[in-house]
Amino acid sequence: MRTIPIDLGPRSYDVRVGTGLRQGVGPFLGERGEVSSAAVVSDSNVAAIYADDVLGSLRAANLPAGLVTFPAGEQHKHLSTCSDLYDALFALKPPLDRSSVIVALGGGVPGDVAGFIAATLLRGIRFVQVPTTLLADVDASVGGKTGIDHPAGKNLIGAFHQPAGVLIDVETLSTLPPEQLRSGLAECVKHAVIRDATLLDFIEDQAEALLDCQAQAMGELIARNVEIKAAVVSADERETGLRAILNYGHTFGHAIEAAAGYGNLTHGAAVGLGMVAANRVAVSRGWLDASVAGRIETVLARLDLPTRRAGLEVDDLHHRMLHDKKTRGGRIKFLLPVGLGQVRIVDDLTREEIRDGISYLTAS
Ligand SMILES: NC(=O)c1ccc[n+]([C@@H]2O[C@H](COP(=O)([O-])OP(=O)(O)OC[C@H]3O[C@@H](n4cnc5c(N)ncnc54)[C@H](O)[C@@H]3O)[C@@H](O)[C@H]2O)c1
Ligand SMILES: [Zn+2]
Repeated sequence: MRTIPIDLGPRSYDVRVGTGLRQGVGPFLGERGEVSSAAVVSDSNVAAIYADDVLGSLRAANLPAGLVTFPAGEQHKHLSTCSDLYDALFALKPPLDRSSVIVALGGGVPGDVAGFIAATLLRGIRFVQVPTTLLADVDASVGGKTGIDHPAGKNLIGAFHQPAGVLIDVETLSTLPPEQLRSGLAECVKHAVIRDATLLDFIEDQAEALLDCQAQAMGELIARNVEIKAAVVSADERETGLRAILNYGHTFGHAIEAAAGYGNLTHGAAVGLGMVAANRVAVSRGWLDASVAGRIETVLARLDLPTRRAGLEVDDLHHRMLHDKKTRGGRIKFLLPVGLGQVRIVDDLTREEIRDGISYLTAS
């Protein structure tokens, strides 16, 4: 097992990466000091596979434990789901109190929803993350952003609420649909490009083992990515500066994901395309070596992620980027790589550069 400390002063916590950790939730809470009860919050898919293991470990640790679930899918990351969950949580026996702990079990959707519930229930109680998708392992479960979507946009309602711990059980990835695994791998490539060239070497060397979800390679990948996310989050907990580098590929990517219609292209696949478009702009500016951009494209392709997409409409995507919540005063923020492990934040991309980045993706 690997332990990665997240250094946030009084809100510090550990991320543990290993096998069988879902059966260790009870003992883990036993180490946390006074815990009166636990409530596992999960989605319908994940609960069917893993809730019994987690509940069993809580009960074996003599903790009263209940389970509340909601239907799987981003469309349920919604206020009405929270309302149903509050009802179910307040009906648990014994009743939850301020020493109770929420256990978020699942991908980024249950993580964000359960974290938001924990941030608001009884004005905020502790929660632990037990992520079960690669995206949640390397990204969503670390950093304390919680929240839900609104018809006006994604993640528009939420709170910063750090977990009391994150238990990443690599074994849970064995049941993950392959396209979800690849989606998480795209975020790992992102981390490598923005912070750590040697991680890109590792991903290239281990591509097959990773696609095959082999525990050792996967554990190493996750631990290295959590370290990167931890370093960025520790330096900028509330996203006032450095944390923005995590948005590499995401300005183009969010627009591509939304244009495809949520659910038709995974988040990671869209971000991979976004990275390719951002690289193109960086190469055209003379900031990034074309061979580095080519290498990143090759890695994405080896991970079975798309690097081209037909039918993207420049005007539609540009409009979506202008309305991204990270856009200020009509100036769209972009992260451009200037080498492996180095990025530059800019807001002066011309319409022509945006058009060129998108056209590059549609070229066959
Ligand atoms: N809080 C943050 O910092 C942060 C960062 C990145 C993303 N996010 C959020 O994360 C969400 C996306 O997360 P996601 O991609 O994990 O989506 P998800 O939670 O919807 O999981 C994807 C699908 O996989 C299923 N699944 C999950 N684990 C499984 C397993 N082990 N075996 C079988 N099926 C499993 C789920 O039921 C779901 O159908 C988005 O809402 C995004 O906004 C949050
Ligand atoms: Zn992302």
